[in-house]
Formats: sequence, structure tokens, C-alpha cells
Amino acid sequence: MPAGKNKLKKNRSGKRPSGKTKRRHASSPGNQWDDHLTRRARAENYPARSVYKLEEIQKKFKILRSGDRVLDLGCAPGSWLLYASKQVGMTGRVFGIDLKDVEIQLPANVRVIRDNILKMEDTVFLGDLAGLDVVLSDMAPATTGRKDVDALRSAALCEMALDTAETCLSANGHFVCKIFQGNEFNLFQKTVQARFKTCKIFKPESCRKQSKEIYIIAKYKKQGG
Ligand SMILES: C[S@@+](CC[C@H](N)C(=O)[O-])C[C@H]1O[C@@H](n2cnc3c(N)ncnc32)[C@H](O)[C@@H]1O
Repeated sequence: MPAGKNKLKKNRSGKRPSGKTKRRHASSPGNQWDDHLTRRARAENYPARSVYKLEEIQKKFKILRSGDRVLDLGCAPGSWLLYASKQVGMTGRVFGIDLKDVEIQLPANVRVIRDNILKMEDTVFLGDLAGLDVVLSDMAPATTGRKDVDALRSAALCEMALDTAETCLSANGHFVCKIFQGNEFNLFQKTVQARFKTCKIFKPESCRKQSKEIYIIAKYKKQGG
């Protein structure tokens, strides 16, 4: 055995020589639930387990209806697109925007562009988006590991999502927005509350337990809001 290799072995108390106890993430109940959802998504042909968050939102709040025109911000890899497409049916339309390409095959009622919502350049696409029934945002910034920075970046995406909802939603339209909880959260929630008749906070069971993400579910956009 090469010199020094044995030093990495655990001692009898289960501790490494550094004194740190090995973490047991893989077998924790939270991870089993995560794995179950990932396997379920694969079996049901969704590219991401995040579909179950939207499913929970839909079951509880009835956001999407047959025939609706829906915008999905931060739509890659495409699970919400597929789920929304089924809910609105072939008389409805789903538009998606993401920084990344959506690589899965999409149903005929879905149209996607690759763009940055913070500096949208595709004005032709934007022109199609008047009179929407629903704006969804599952956008998330690339995380840095610094919770305050991540929350600030998430809030900037949420503000842009809300601006888009204000411009493109018809009166009584609905808005669903993921936000990382942080200092900006209360102000953003108040701003949404002022523009919609109802506004609820919801953490789906399918969110990872350690995640700071939460969803704002705002229904019935006020006239002129
Ligand atoms: C959690 S993923 C969305 C998953 C998606 N709802 C699904 O079910 O497949 C978040 C997405 O937000 C996108 N995103 C982040 N910042 C963005 C921006 N400025 N403009 C557009 N998309 C953005 C990311 O590229 C990423 O694909």
C-alpha cells in the first residue's frame, strides 16, 4: 500500500482523521424522496422532476385551464412546458423562454425561444404575447453558494417576471413565480399582492427540503394592475 493511503481510513468511532464524521446524504429519507421523484419523472418522460412542483400547484390552485395561452419563463429543460401543454390542450398555446436550448421534442401547441429575460431582444416573439391567461416563472439564477447573493439574483428575475406579467397578462390572468427566500422577499410579495386579487405562498412537497425556494401564486390580475 502506498505510504499515507491508510491515513484516510475512518477510526472506530466512524470519524475521519480530521475529526469530521462522514455525511450520510445518500441514505437520508429526503434523498430517497428526491430519487423517487427523479425516477418517476424519467418513467413518465419528463426531463426534470420539477414537473411535480407544477402538478402540486395545479392540483391546489387550478391555475391552468383548457384553451389557455401560457408563458413559461425559465422553461428548460422543458418539464413545465410538457405539463402545461397537456393542461391547455390543442386549443391552447404555451410559449417558453430560457437562456438554454430546450432539447426535448415539443408538442405542436408549444413554441420556445432562447433568450435572456433580463435583456430580451426577440421583439417579434414578445409581440405574440399580448393577452396571456397565465405567466409562470420557474427561473433560477446560477447559484453561488452565498445565500444573500443568490436571493438578490432570484429577486431580479422575479421582478422581470412580474413586469412581463403586468405587460402581457389579460385582466384576471394568473401569475406563478418561484423566488428564493431572502431580504427581498417581503417587498416582492407586497408588490404582487397589490396587483392581483389573491396572493398565496406555497412550498410544494416535491421541493428539496433544504431548498430556499418558494412559490408565489397570484390569481386574477387587477384591471390596469
Ligand atoms: C429550475 S430551471 C427550470 C425548470 C423548468 N421549469 C422545467 O420544469 O423543466 C430554471 C431555469 O431558469 C433559466 N434562467 C435563469 N436565468 C434566466 C434568464 N435571465 N432568462 C431566461 N431564463 C433564465 C435557467 O437557464 C434554467 O433553465
